Amino acid sequence: MKKGLAAVILAAGKGTRMKSALPKVLHPICGRPMLYYPLEAARASGFEQLKVVVGHGAEQVMEAFEDNNLTWVKQTDQLGTGHALMCAADSLRGYSGPLLLHCGDVPLLKAETLHQLQDYHSQHQAAVTVLTAQMPNPQGYGRIIRDGEQILQIVEEKDANEEQRQVTEINAGTYLFDTAFVLEALKGLKQNNSQKEYYLTDIVAAAVAEGKKTRALCVEDPTEVMGINDRCQLAEAEVLMRWKINADLMFGGISMVDPTTVYIDNGVEIGIDTMLHPNVHLRGKTTVGKNCIIETGVVVVDSQIADGVHLKAGSAIEESRIGHNCKVGPMAHLRPGSVLTGNNKIGNFVEMKKSVLGEKSQASHLTYIGDSEVGQNVNFGCGTITCNYDGVNKHKTTVEDDVFVGSDCQFVAPVTIGRNSLIAAGTTVTKDVPPDSLALARTEQKIIKGWRLRKQKKS
Ligand code: UD1
Ligand code: CA
Repeated sequence: MKKGLAAVILAAGKGTRMKSALPKVLHPICGRPMLYYPLEAARASGFEQLKVVVGHGAEQVMEAFEDNNLTWVKQTDQLGTGHALMCAADSLRGYSGPLLLHCGDVPLLKAETLHQLQDYHSQHQAAVTVLTAQMPNPQGYGRIIRDGEQILQIVEEKDANEEQRQVTEINAGTYLFDTAFVLEALKGLKQNNSQKEYYLTDIVAAAVAEGKKTRALCVEDPTEVMGINDRCQLAEAEVLMRWKINADLMFGGISMVDPTTVYIDNGVEIGIDTMLHPNVHLRGKTTVGKNCIIETGVVVVDSQIADGVHLKAGSAIEESRIGHNCKVGPMAHLRPGSVLTGNNKIGNFVEMKKSVLGEKSQASHLTYIGDSEVGQNVNFGCGTITCNYDGVNKHKTTVEDDVFVGSDCQFVAPVTIGRNSLIAAGTTVTKDVPPDSLALARTEQKIIKGWRLRKQKKS
């Protein structure tokens, strides 16, 4: 048996109310699957042995958390939350510490609250300690029926009478149990309720019947224990989490013109004095340095942006690296594998893919650079195209330092342009260009004097 405190996280339910082919716990919130958050909260509050009960879409769920050092428990038929914990009983054999049970669809719960729940549970030496909240609108939640400090019963909405429905203290679906007690009591659960399920919540009444202590810790902020059952609640949770991410960043020295329209995934890092304009999306494994300006409509995915970078309106950047003091956009597209070393300028309607640009090289307008290695101080004129694809294979273009490329040139790859060469405007380069040369490939211009006048007279 592994050391450390044990927690069981329930994630086997179908999530019927989501009306989705994707298992509920995989629906993303601020860039991570919902289940990520309960797992992190449990870990951060000292639970090292995490047993996750999966059933509906089990393979998909396990795949999404491949490298996370978890114990997976299968619940083949979803017969209720009590049945889900029964399925984990074997994996808890020999464990005698307090047992945390937490739901995979409660993503906003903080680790601090789980700490408080542990303290409260051990102070009171209860058999069951339930996390609860006062919900202004308790609809859909189990209600807490108390006798002072002792919790007598949890009644599900569907089984509650009119009086019980008036109760606003609800069950968050998070508990600490005396492990030996709960594993024994589970055996006595019945399906005699409106949903014909084994309710975990019935453990409370079972404890009371045995004369044991049952307690509840009521959280201050009810939004923290919000359960996600449908897509409206999903969106609500996303708004709350997004606000928290943005608030933490602003307290940390990042400016946002309108934080209600800035979309930053969990885990994105940003340096101080960076300014984010409205409608900016920073997603996935993205980092942004200090003193950057990110203008409206910019989408950055899985990319590293260094200090002093200016990303102009409407640019899209994926799996790319942008070095110090670069200027990108407006409306530039950096596709996977683009590297700007530093002090580069990428202007409007420039697309890059799998290409490295050395220091100070630039492409200011209407250019495609793909599968290329470009040195320093290279200037691409308006309308430069690397013809990297012959219909079967991709080929590389190499442009050495200090090359000047005039407007409207094509490089038919594979091709190498030697350092300090000049490519004349309108040239289609099909052969390697030696260093320090001029490459010129266009038909010579003809002038026919008076041609227009003669034409006009005829008609
Ligand atoms: C449950 C509680 C309710 C509480 C609410 C808090 C019960 C009977 N009810 O209701 O008192 O107020 O959570 O959000 O426990 N699951 C399984 N296997 C199953 C059934 C569910 O793993 O057979 C998992 C689900 O994936 C989900 C969690 O358990 O993560 C809760 O299940 P759900 O059906 O959402 O319960 P609620 O109706 O919300
Ligand atoms: Ca739920």
